[in-house]
Amino acid sequence: MAAENWVFTVTAQTPTNIAVIKYWGKRDEDLILPINDSISVTLDPDHLCTTTSVAVSPDFTHDRMWLNGKEVSLSGGRYQNCLRELRSRASDVEDEKKGIKITKKDWEKLHVHVVSYNNFPTAAGLASSAAGLACLVFSLAKLMNVKEDHSRLSAIARQGSGSACRSLYGGFVKWIMGKEENGSDSIAVQLTDEKHWDDLVIIIAVVSSKQKETSSTSGMRDTVETSMLVEHRAKEVVPKRIIQMEEAIKNRDFPAFARLTCADSNQFHAVCLDTLPPIFYMNDTSHRIISYVEKWNRFEGTPQVAYTFDAGPNAVLISHNRKAAAQLLQRLLFFFPPQSDTDLSSYVIGDKTILQDAGIQDMKDIEALSPPPEIKETNTPAQKYKGDVSYFICTRPGRGPVVLTDESRSLINPETGLPK
Ligand code: ADE
Repeated sequence: MAAENWVFTVTAQTPTNIAVIKYWGKRDEDLILPINDSISVTLDPDHLCTTTSVAVSPDFTHDRMWLNGKEVSLSGGRYQNCLRELRSRASDVEDEKKGIKITKKDWEKLHVHVVSYNNFPTAAGLASSAAGLACLVFSLAKLMNVKEDHSRLSAIARQGSGSACRSLYGGFVKWIMGKEENGSDSIAVQLTDEKHWDDLVIIIAVVSSKQKETSSTSGMRDTVETSMLVEHRAKEVVPKRIIQMEEAIKNRDFPAFARLTCADSNQFHAVCLDTLPPIFYMNDTSHRIISYVEKWNRFEGTPQVAYTFDAGPNAVLISHNRKAAAQLLQRLLFFFPPQSDTDLSSYVIGDKTILQDAGIQDMKDIEALSPPPEIKETNTPAQKYKGDVSYFICTRPGRGPVVLTDESRSLINPETGLPK
């Protein structure tokens, strides 16, 4: 190593993703190897992403991480697995101007600092660990000059958090379960980039919940140990659905895509119910959203929107196009109006143009919404559920990880190596 007191940093931004064919159940807990393939759509990082700055300096005494402004431990096995895998693949780094010279061997002794922010609430149940671990691995790989492609990096991110491997790409992504015991072939591959199907609009209903949810790790373990349905799902159902889903995505066949997405979400939650003790991730609001979407799709004669729910009550609603998204948002705001003291601009966040398309500018426009035609025939006044949704996020399929070269985006002070 050359001069002392230098700090070398890299900053990256990585998206989150939502599975449309779900990952549920591991065949190896340590390596995080799944029992079936899964497919996801990457969400636009402008609305949901992790930004991570990583730094190395001969002055650092141990590996440290700050997450959303608070120092957290990096000693967990999953973080350690990622750090070990990356260090073993690190290459020489040289920056003559800054007097930095790090050899492959130096990386074994050097320590790193990691500063990470999620641009959405970590507690909202929006797969923050997928974006977070993908960003950790991607940014450290750049810092350490790891010369491996995104699929090989995905196998490292997978060891931090299973679904993180799918956040190494934009667009539609498949996580191939793989067959090898060492997990070397359990990697993510891109099916199509984000431009392939850019009509899609995604609205996430962040559902208010007081219930403490079962962690995915323990939930999956209980499912694999006790559910008979999960074996049928992994061996018989998912392999066929993966083929059909790839075809639907390739052909931008929305009716097939919606049918498969909804069916797979419902089967995932059926498998949770088939677990001992049963796991309930959805709540009454989630169930209501499913009923409204099913009713509307049936009324239209062809699906306008697909729903999918992960390990929590939030609804991820994927609409065919902008027109369907605006109609969906009108329906959602009709059934789930904000509390009277809520500001509309914080109730519908992300791509606000959907709100404009829906013709909604203020609270009065929401109050003036009439019941959707598909429920009118029931002759009973439509019930509204004020306060049952915390907020909505309007987004779309998005790009994969990027390095942010603009120094002002760095989260690390380049002099001290500490959070800014
Ligand atoms: N878990 C949740 N968010 C994370 C992040 N940004 N980095 C690492 N782990 C996380």
